[in-house]
Amino acid sequence: MATLKTIHYITPPTPDQLDAAARLIDSTLEHSLKLSRFQRAPVVVVALDATLKVVGVAAIRKVKVRANAAEIGYFAVDATYRRQGIATRLTQMVVSEARLLGIDLLYAWVEHANIASSDNLKKSGFRFFGNYVRRPGKSNVRSWLYLPLSSAVDSNAVMEGITKSLTRVE
Ligand SMILES: CC(C)(COP(=O)(O)OP(=O)(O)OC[C@H]1O[C@@H](n2cnc3c(N)ncnc32)[C@H](O)[C@@H]1OP(=O)(O)O)[C@@H](O)C(=O)NCCC(=O)NCCS
Repeated sequence: MATLKTIHYITPPTPDQLDAAARLIDSTLEHSLKLSRFQRAPVVVVALDATLKVVGVAAIRKVKVRANAAEIGYFAVDATYRRQGIATRLTQMVVSEARLLGIDLLYAWVEHANIASSDNLKKSGFRFFGNYVRRPGKSNVRSWLYLPLSSAVDSNAVMEGITKSLTRVE
């Protein structure tokens, strides 16, 4: 296993680092990454090892301007570097960047079976909102989570709005 102590966290990444981050995300997905969408992410944080290889990434995927809420995602850590706290640090850095942008609430969805990902978010204070499918009868259950960044935000109302086109399941 590679060691943690020489990991560096960078935002924004250089174009080469962004490309490497895209390849890393793509390697964790069943379907191909929508590259142009990733390249439009407002915030990307990468983790570099001692050789400056990109070994982790997380991002703000998009901002919902009217709700002043932002989606955190694009989490990927190189398989040989997992369970060393890299996703924890990446999450904390994206949360800090969201605070700097004045975002009121961060939200995320993860595949229901992806316990590592939901536990990583909960470790940084994210709360479970609910399990949803896109349409009734669909089996692809996603868990939605949120992290209020402002004491004034009505998290429930924001999350109800964000998930309104989805179907809640148990
Ligand atoms: C999910 C992922 C990003 C976690 O990265 P990581 O650097 O290994 O995570 P960390 O070491 O920072 O772990 C943070 C917390 O996440 C949880 N976690 C991480 N890996 C886990 C695992 N295999 N099983 C259970 N919980 C896990 C734990 O709560 C952990 O805290 P702890 O170490 O104090 O117990 C990584 O496993 C990954 O890249 N997976 C494939 C891609 C993916 O699923 N991305 C998310 C898409 S939504």
